[in-house]
Parts: sequence; structure tokens; C-alpha cells
Amino acid sequence: MAGAGISTPSGIPDFRTPGSGLYDNLKKYNVPYPEAVFDIDYFAYNPRPFFTLAKELYPGTYKPNVVHYFMRLLHEKGLLLRCYTQNIDGLERMAGIPPKKLVEAHGTFSSASCHLCYTPFPAREARDCIMSGKSPHCKVCYGVVKPDIVFFGEDLPKRFAKFSKDFPKADLLIVMGTSLEIEPFADIVKSVRPNVPRLLINRDLVGPFKSKPLKSTDVVELGELCDVVRRFVTALNWQDDMDELMKSQKL
Ligand code: OAD
Ligand code: ZN
Repeated sequence: MAGAGISTPSGIPDFRTPGSGLYDNLKKYNVPYPEAVFDIDYFAYNPRPFFTLAKELYPGTYKPNVVHYFMRLLHEKGLLLRCYTQNIDGLERMAGIPPKKLVEAHGTFSSASCHLCYTPFPAREARDCIMSGKSPHCKVCYGVVKPDIVFFGEDLPKRFAKFSKDFPKADLLIVMGTSLEIEPFADIVKSVRPNVPRLLINRDLVGPFKSKPLKSTDVVELGELCDVVRRFVTALNWQDDMDELMKSQKL
């Protein structure tokens, strides 16, 4: 399970880190409260703040980092059942994790649709429009089109329901770079079998990892994700594989 913290080393701010997080830096978007930028009712009233932000967030500007490539290696080694991510930066795909191994729980910029009638709209056309400072409009009802990012007040993609079959199959759950503040995503951490180890790699304690005492099968590695992941790669003797993979991506 991944969140915005896995992409901060790529230069993308997370949401809730005081000072650098997006929700502390929304002045220029002119929103009445920070989460309004991802609120479907606010979007219906005024889509500009989201489109201004979307121009910065559209995949293409940023590159995956060692944490994304660690997940790719888990896949290459046959160890990745599925990657559940809340991120909308597309860096998991860019790192070469096949779409079938991904659940992009908070949606993606790779498709778009009308926020009123849900008619699909060509993603490329939506991107070009938003990038040139215009709002894309639905060809059926003229409603404003938005990339298929999940907003507050919207359902998660159908694929998210896979967790109810995946999690009971897992024999290790790794949780990285998320505050586990947002439901229903945060809640699925409970869906592994009771004796299955859960490993948190994060700067701070979050969700059930805050419990004192910590559940005996939970493990916490507090610190910078890149450092912790690099230590794991060394411990696993995967350094050569990682170097080769990152070189092949021309980073
Ligand atoms: P948050 O910003 O809430 O949490 C990021 C977590 O990652 C925090 O606990 C940070 O301390 C940690 N972190 C950041 N950089 C790190 C690093 N380099 N190394 C280790 N830890 C680091 O982000 P999310 O949990 O992803 O929803 O936020 C969840 C959802 O809230 C987002 O998907 C978004 C937002 O509203 C929507 O847009 C629908
Ligand atoms: Zn429409």
C-alpha cells in the first residue's frame, strides 16, 4: 500500500507534511479550504483551482525513484501480488509495474470523463485542453470533463474491490509513505490475515502502527523511504538487479 510519501523523493510534494505538503501551499489556487481542490461539489462550482494544479501534476514532469523501482523488482522476482496506490502521479506505471498488478485507488490521469454524465472523453484531448488553460467539455451534455482522479464525494474505481480477494492471500503487507488518514483506502490495512506481518516504512507512525504496544506481527522502519529501501535492497542482495533496472530506465 503506497501513498504520496513514495513520490516526495521524485520532487512531488505530499499532502499533509507540515510546511511542504500540498495542503499547506494552496494559497495560489484560491480555494476556501485545502481539500476543496479535490472536492467534487467545489469542482462543479469552480473547476479552475483543480485544473491549475492538474497542469503541475500531469504525468511527464517527474520520474520514478528507487522506491518505485523496488516495487518493480518485487514484481520481477514474482513477489508482488498487487500494488495498491493512492498516488495519481503515474510513477508506478512509469517504473514498469504492469497495469494488471496495480490498483490506482484514487484514479489516474490516463483516462478522463464528464463529471456530470460520466461519458468518457479522450484523455489526450483533456490534457491538451487543460495544459492550454482551457476547460474540456463533454460532447454529450457540455458538463466539465475531468481526468479520472477520485475526488472527495466520489466512489473509488471498481478495481479497488479486488482488495477483498487479494489481502487475505497476502503473506506480507508493506505500507509505504502514507498517513493512512483517508478512508476507505486506510481501512484495508486490516484485511490481511491476523498472523500476517505488516511492515510500515514511513517518516512517522500512522494508523494501526501507532498502537502501544505494537501488534506482535507489525514491524516499523521509521525514516526516509529511499534510505530504508536501499538498505533492504542490500540486505536482499538485489543491488545489481536494482542498478541494472535503473540504468535500463536511463535515469
Ligand atoms: P499524506 O501527505 O497524507 O501522507 C504522506 C506520508 O508519507 C506522511 O506520513 C509523511 O510523513 C510520509 N513521507 C513523506 N515523504 C516521505 C519520505 N521521503 N520518506 C518517508 N516517509 C515520507 O499522503 P497520502 O497518505 O498519500 O487523496 O494521502 C492520502 C490521500 O489524501 C491522497 O491520495 C489524496 C489526499 O487527499 C485524493 O486526492 C483523493
Ligand atoms: Zn456529460
